[in-house]
Amino acid sequence: MELIHFTWPWRRGGDAHGFFLLNSNAMDVVLQPAPAVTWRTIGGILDFYVFLGPDPASVIGQYVEVIGYPAMPIYWALGYHLCRWGYNTSDSTWEMVKSLRNYKIPQDVQWNDIDYMDQFLDFTFDSKKFGTLPDMVKDLHVHDQRYVMILDPGISSSQPEGSYWPYDEGLKRDVFIKDAEGKTLIGKVWPGLTAYPDFSNEVTHEWWYENLLRFHEKVPFDGLWIDMNEPSNFLDGSTNGCPSNSLENPPYTPGILGGLLRAKTLCATAQQKQSIHYNMHSLYGLLEAKASANAMKRIVAKRPFVISRSTFPSQGMYSGHWLGDNRSQWKDLYTSIAGMLTFNLLGIPLVGADICGFSEEPQEELCVRWTQLGAFYPFTRNHNAIDMRPQDPTAFSPLARTAMKQALLLRYSLFPVLYTLFHHAHVHGHTVARPLMFEFPKDVKTYGIDKQFLWGKSLLVTPVLDPEVDYVDGYFPEGLWYDYYTGYALHSQGEDLRLHAPLDKINLHLREGSITPTQAPNLTLWVSSGQPLHLVTALSEGGAASGDLFWDDGETIDTSENNLYSYILFSVAQNVMTSQVLHSNVEATYITVETASFYGVKQKPSRVTVNSQDATFTYRDNQVLTVADLGLNLSQNFTISWMF
Ligand code: GLC
Repeated sequence: MELIHFTWPWRRGGDAHGFFLLNSNAMDVVLQPAPAVTWRTIGGILDFYVFLGPDPASVIGQYVEVIGYPAMPIYWALGYHLCRWGYNTSDSTWEMVKSLRNYKIPQDVQWNDIDYMDQFLDFTFDSKKFGTLPDMVKDLHVHDQRYVMILDPGISSSQPEGSYWPYDEGLKRDVFIKDAEGKTLIGKVWPGLTAYPDFSNEVTHEWWYENLLRFHEKVPFDGLWIDMNEPSNFLDGSTNGCPSNSLENPPYTPGILGGLLRAKTLCATAQQKQSIHYNMHSLYGLLEAKASANAMKRIVAKRPFVISRSTFPSQGMYSGHWLGDNRSQWKDLYTSIAGMLTFNLLGIPLVGADICGFSEEPQEELCVRWTQLGAFYPFTRNHNAIDMRPQDPTAFSPLARTAMKQALLLRYSLFPVLYTLFHHAHVHGHTVARPLMFEFPKDVKTYGIDKQFLWGKSLLVTPVLDPEVDYVDGYFPEGLWYDYYTGYALHSQGEDLRLHAPLDKINLHLREGSITPTQAPNLTLWVSSGQPLHLVTALSEGGAASGDLFWDDGETIDTSENNLYSYILFSVAQNVMTSQVLHSNVEATYITVETASFYGVKQKPSRVTVNSQDATFTYRDNQVLTVADLGLNLSQNFTISWMF
């Protein structure tokens, strides 16, 4: 476990620093009433880092430099993911996909939970209920869509000998965690009795890869959902309990689930290749993610997609994260924002909560509001528990369905900016979803804000988090903000403002001085990513703005490391927009800039030129200048100027 700690200044200095204890043992981290933190760890090395900041974003940059930069996601990771526990058959999963296509609701990825497996055995599928799974996956691929399925680490140990390769082979290669006496430790998960792969052993990684490869030959999945990897056990310790000694019952036990180290997991005395489980427990999800990501790289030869429930510092290099089992309740909608922002601080920006809630059943209104907020989770997946009523977008009234579709199309139209933010996370350790205080560290009113957040520096998201309202209150730090949809300007002195928020709207504002690249959306990101761009400029009071775009083929590994990308800087000053291609690669050449909108042009121009040629334009009373039909090649520098 680890912790970053900011000690916020009492004065309006906006300074921040961080402490990081890199230690994998069970620990308490206690916030004192004074600006202080106490760590109580029960083992390991006291590896402390101090990050000097001096501002919050720099602390995170320094932390991520230590633990490793998050991986650049494959483009479709940023699309809409749909999942549930209890589709029951591959045909009904397939029907779901077809139904979304039918309603023209964007979807990049369809998932399956443990119900696809034969008796919940990893690396199998139920040939009766899920007999058409391989065909479904082929069909997804034909439609530029992807397939992700769950894997739990527990490997069934009770199948007849010779009938289940993963266990038989695992025993042969000695990949499983042992108990204190050196016998394979047996716990219990969905398939019944299970052994646990020891991912601290390189041999296990090879065995895991071979299992994945063998299964991939049957079902060509595109990514992995690794669950139950705390590791989770329905028993405490093992089928034989655990020894009674000072490792199992240390003189001090931190405040953990069940009050016992072995509660719902393995014995502390269990033996792994690198150390006892007492020391290794918290690393299980990280090492499984590493094995999974590396295996996927070898199998698909593209950027791996892995989402993990358990995480540890450095996780972002290998996987994203979902926030675990939540409920279909308004308070869970609200707390998901803090969860998402926290994992952005921890260098795991690809994160989101189960949209519409996992357990329980959401009212339609909650599910609409959740889909709107979820459209701004860096990782956006609707997931539902077994036996719960469907909660995918097609399960509701036409009004709700349309509102959800609109929210997802909005996300797809923002793909260029989201993708560029992930690039900055990957290269500089920036956050993608960002607390307001990171951009306004001197404004103490931003410190406690957990109902709003930013994408990057400039896109402010103000979701509705309460039932039965058609408005939302939001804080606007001092300056000029523009309504994303209309371009209407709002001058704030650092105020709380009430915004209109009918059921089909999520409020979005652009900060002055920004240029946001957007794209005409389509039903998959593969298609969207070839569509023309629309650059939205939000001018500062002084008439300036800047923005950027990172673009590559969306899936090749290490494009920024190997110069296989384009990077374009946009800026506006003195009534001239300039696009400067700082780095050029073939991938961007087929994309055009079709439209440029400028919010905050104070009077109607008499003339607009594009690369010195006269161009037609429109100007609206709310000070929005739009130049359309540009057909500008993104890989060439260009200028757009306006004169009065
Ligand atoms: C765990 C996961 C949940 C999943 C369920 C069945 O509870 O957190 O997402 O649906 O197991 O696999």
